[in-house]
Amino acid sequence: MGIHYVLDTADVSEGGHVVVQVEGREIGIFRVNGEFYALHNYCPHQGAPMCAGLVSGTNLPSGVYEYEYSRKGEILRCPWHGWEFDIKTGKSLFSDRTRVKKYELEIANGKIGVVLGK
Ligand code: FES
Repeated sequence: MGIHYVLDTADVSEGGHVVVQVEGREIGIFRVNGEFYALHNYCPHQGAPMCAGLVSGTNLPSGVYEYEYSRKGEILRCPWHGWEFDIKTGKSLFSDRTRVKKYELEIANGKIGVVLGK
């Protein structure tokens, strides 16, 4: 419980992520457009290590023979079966009810803290 300071902000490069251990949990800390997000390293489908997946964008709904690629760097694709999740919210792209657990972060004095128990 409480805030666990696990990294310096400089430890996570833009577009990258680092997996940390906090009270027995594996948590991926992502940096997207200068903001930090934390997701459990566990896919809600069959438990794959989410952080081994590809960070990318996605194709938005569009007309036949049209492709609209967007949200580059904001989507995490599960390495096992390809389910896609929004790094900012943890929600899957296909259902509001399917999500990777997201953790709150506290950024202070160049340190990243994972908030547990909220
Ligand atoms: S384990 Fe992640 S999509 Fe199947």
